[in-house]
Parts: sequence; structure tokens; C-alpha cells
Amino acid sequence: MAKIELEKLSKDFGRFRAVDGVDLEIQDGEFMVFVGPSGCGKTTTLNMIAGFERPSAGAVRIGGRVVNDMEPGERDLGMVFQSLALFPHMTVFDNIAFGLRVKKTGEGEVRARVQAVTATMKIAPLLSKRPGQLSGGEAQRVALARTVVNNPSAFLMDEPLSSLDAKLRVEMRTELKRLHTTLGSTFIYVTHDQAEAMTMADRIAVMKDGRVQQVGEPLDIYNDPVNMFVAGFFGVPSMNFIHGRLEARGGSLAFASASLLCPLDGKGARPDLAGRAVNLGVRPENIRIVEGGDAGSGAVNLIEPLGDETLVHIESGGNVPLITKVESTHHVRPGEKVSFEFKRGQVVLFDAGTQDRIRL
Ligand SMILES: Nc1ncnc2c1ncn2[C@@H]1O[C@H](COP(=O)(O)OP(=O)(O)OP(=O)(O)O)[C@@H](O)[C@H]1O
Ligand SMILES: [Mg+2]
Repeated sequence: MAKIELEKLSKDFGRFRAVDGVDLEIQDGEFMVFVGPSGCGKTTTLNMIAGFERPSAGAVRIGGRVVNDMEPGERDLGMVFQSLALFPHMTVFDNIAFGLRVKKTGEGEVRARVQAVTATMKIAPLLSKRPGQLSGGEAQRVALARTVVNNPSAFLMDEPLSSLDAKLRVEMRTELKRLHTTLGSTFIYVTHDQAEAMTMADRIAVMKDGRVQQVGEPLDIYNDPVNMFVAGFFGVPSMNFIHGRLEARGGSLAFASASLLCPLDGKGARPDLAGRAVNLGVRPENIRIVEGGDAGSGAVNLIEPLGDETLVHIESGGNVPLITKVESTHHVRPGEKVSFEFKRGQVVLFDAGTQDRIRL
């Protein structure tokens, strides 16, 4: 069991700063996910926690102790990576037992611990097989079991599911979440997949260009993003962004673009914001196609049925069509003129220059 703290953690490769002053506290027993686009520094951060990379500045603390100078093997962490590296000539049992035997654990205890872990991971029927005889999902479970059996104080996982097909990935993320609940250990999980982050995490740290942009619970990040990057990173399809300007209208503020006019709810009138260039963000599920909709109107130019819901692209005078998500029972036809409204309180504003959130 371990709390893991990162303090102003940075990593330079030559003149390139891959990780830039990351401050983060990961609680004992927490499922923390690092998410962000390729190259944002997720693996480098994880490697500094694991001890594979030395920090250029800052500190890693595990259970209250600074571990910067500690070898990876002394940190009591369990690692699971995308490339599984199971020993091909050994049975599944021997693969799982390997780490225990290296530590000269007695054969009776090895047997007991491997059996306990295979029961948890539901892989008992695989014990006598060799890695070459396993499916992708089975091999992934064996790789996890091999780490779990060592009973580390925390698990570090770097995109462990990315080699699996989409259906198996969804199954495995449920299993991983269940495993986390069973073990109660600290999990740090790296992925570039926002859906994985949303579904598995207790808390998410969103990274970009080596910096943490926002840390929070999945729905808080989804509903209350601090900037346009975070807002656009989560959700499929992405949030719609419309460029425009804030205007004072009858004592309150409105958002106005070439083709839209949208009154804004706000606590105060904030006349200081009138005239400011902004981007309005609205998620596809928060645009409603209704007769006489007060936000704007346009022509339907594309329809994508997803089965349970349908994506409707509306050409409404912006650079890109607005994408709305409607119930599949809602019938619209390409070319049809529709008007729409935004669900109350479900739009967010960003400064057009800094792209930071503006709160009314
Ligand atoms: N050993 C290295 N030498 C030089 N640059 C490196 C080294 N390792 C990583 N980098 C650079 O640091 C940045 C962060 O890399 P990192 O592997 O942490 O990204 P990541 O977020 O894990 O990306 P991905 O999702 O593609 O795995 C990248 O721009 C990468 O090119
Ligand atoms: Mg990586």
C-alpha cells in the first residue's frame, strides 16, 4: 500500500523538456489514470516513478520517502507494459511463479500464491499452456497475474491493453477495474484513450506537452474542463467549438457569432467581458433539434446512425458543421432545414487567445 507523490517533477532529454514541473498526489489505493496525446510525457512520468528514468528536477515520493536514488527493484512496484514479454519456453504456471522463485520463495508458498492469483484472474485452466498457445486476452491476463502474484504496493501500467482488439479491450478494462477493487492497491494507468480513462479512473490527470492540464474525477473533467484542450480531448464526437464574441444584451451577456445568438446564464452580468473574443463549446448531446430553436438554424448535411443514437451534422454558417447527438427515433433527412437550441447551462466559454475557460 502506498501513496505516491510527484513534486515539481521534470525530465529533460538534451534541450527538450519532456515532463515539465508535474505536481501530483496519488492516494493510497487510488486508481489514477494519466491520459493525453502521443508524446505528452505519460511514459516518461511513469518511468520516473518506476525508476527507469532519473528526474532532471523535482522528486518522486513513495509512502513518504523520496526514492529518486532508489533502484527500480527496491521500490516495490509492479509493472505491466504493452509488450508482455512472457517467457515463451515456460508454462503459464512457471511464468507466474518466476518472480517468486527468483526471490527464493519456498515451493509450497509459490504453489499457494500462484493458485490464489489464478483464481482471482480466472486463468486456472491455462496453467499448463505455453504463451504461444494463448489468445491475446489470455496472455494479457497472465502478464497481469505475473505482476499481481508479487503483491507489490502499487501497480504501474503503460497502455497494457493497446494490443488487444476493441471488444477485448472493453472486457479487460472491466476486469482491471474489478481487480483494483479486489486488491485495493494503488494503480497508475497510462493511456491515450479518453474512453479508457473515463471508465476506469477514480481520478484522471490530463497531460499535454509535459504538463498536467487538469486533475479530477472523470465526470468533473468532462463537465467542467479548465481549457479547450481538455474540453476537446474527452467525448466522442468532440465538443463543438464556435468562434464568436460576447455582447451585452439587456443587462446580461450573450454569445454572438456570424450565425448564432445565444443568451448566457450567469451569476453576474459581467459587463467587463462584453466585446471579448471567445470560443463557445457545446457537446453534441447538449444540442437539441427543436422547432423554433433559439440558438440558430441550418441545413442537415450528414447523418450517422450509431444504433441507439444518431449523429446529425448541421451546416449553420460556421467553419465546420455542428454535430448533434439525437435519439435514433428522431427522424431527420439530409438537406432538411432545422433549428436548434442549447440545453440550459450546458455551454462553456473559452478565451479565443489563451483558450482558457471563462466562467461567468
Ligand atoms: N530517451 C529519450 N530521448 C529523447 N527524447 C525522448 C526520450 N524518451 C522520450 N522522449 C521524448 O519525450 C516526449 C515524451 O515521450 P513519452 O514517451 O513520455 O510520451 P507518451 O506520452 O508516453 O506518448 P505515447 O502515447 O506515444 O506513448 C516525446 O516527445 C518523446 O519523443
Ligand atoms: Mg507512452
